[in-house]
Amino acid sequence: MTDHIQFSEIKQALVLLDQRILPNREEYFLCKTTQDVIYALQTMVVRGAPAIGVTAAYGCWLALRQAMDQAGPGWRVRLAELLRDLEDARPTAVNLRWAVELMRADAAAAGEIGAEELSARWLAKAKAVHAEDIEINKAMGRFGAEAIDDGDTVMTHCNAGALATAGYGTALGVIRAAIEQGKRIKVIANETRPFLQGARLTAYELHKDGIDVTVACDNAVGHLMKRGMVQKVVVGADRIAANGDAANKIGTYTVALAAKAHGVPFYVAAPASTFDLRIQSGDEIPIEDRTPREVTHIGDHQITPEGVPVYNYAFDVTPAGLISGIATEKGLLRAPYVQAIKEKIGSV
Ligand code: MRU
Repeated sequence: MTDHIQFSEIKQALVLLDQRILPNREEYFLCKTTQDVIYALQTMVVRGAPAIGVTAAYGCWLALRQAMDQAGPGWRVRLAELLRDLEDARPTAVNLRWAVELMRADAAAAGEIGAEELSARWLAKAKAVHAEDIEINKAMGRFGAEAIDDGDTVMTHCNAGALATAGYGTALGVIRAAIEQGKRIKVIANETRPFLQGARLTAYELHKDGIDVTVACDNAVGHLMKRGMVQKVVVGADRIAANGDAANKIGTYTVALAAKAHGVPFYVAAPASTFDLRIQSGDEIPIEDRTPREVTHIGDHQITPEGVPVYNYAFDVTPAGLISGIATEKGLLRAPYVQAIKEKIGSV
């Protein structure tokens, strides 16, 4: 599945499969301005760290076109403002900042070129980021699949699949690669309250691909592990610190604790662009606090008493000590992570 993020030459727009209404309806959302892209990111029309990065790369190009229209010769100043707004759309997935910085660095390398020339350059760059993401996921999948055995039931949390990337997926890429290697794999997709990425999106894309998937409520994790029904856990990540601490969808930390208690190996799969080597530990990762409505309501129906506050932290951090390995496109990293990350991903 790769048509969920498309660039339309005819419309000169970014076209996104609307993940808010899957699996019931397959409708597309058109982004023609920076504000459209920010709205799509914040309301989760598109979500998942690498998909956010790809979207942001196209978003930079849309920002440039908008700056040219709005500011004429003053486009560089307007562009800088729009890129700052774009970069702040969501706080936890570092791939957003990574993509905007990549485009800024590209503009800096190009020097004092005209807006039209930069526009052509940035559109090509965004398309390259888009295409490369699929290749990165396939490489990551091959490395990660080393840790998966024939006959395993693999639990995953949230959606770290094709929909969360340009295609193939990170955690689901590991599962897809293991299946391509001939291993017989079953998947347990945790429901992932409140946005239900597991129940709606992971189940949707695996079922569509004919992969054996069963949805479980988030609070069934301990029970399923205690019964020996889970051999491995593989999840994605939104930001990984220099010491290997990994932020991912809320509930991931609880899954890792349960995995530790039951001796189930717990793996993270993420590309190099998800590592934030400016921060030393997970304590420095900003955690998105989303609207209470996602928790208080199911659709239009309110399920909590009026006036009762709720927590809606969208992510948590799993300490490196609970992680058995981190699959990346550069290899399967093992503890001690500070050293492995320095060697494979870069220096701090
Ligand atoms: O809030 P979301 O849906 O953007 O959160 C997504 C996740 O937590 C994913 O597991 C993570 O981005 C990895 S995606 C390959």
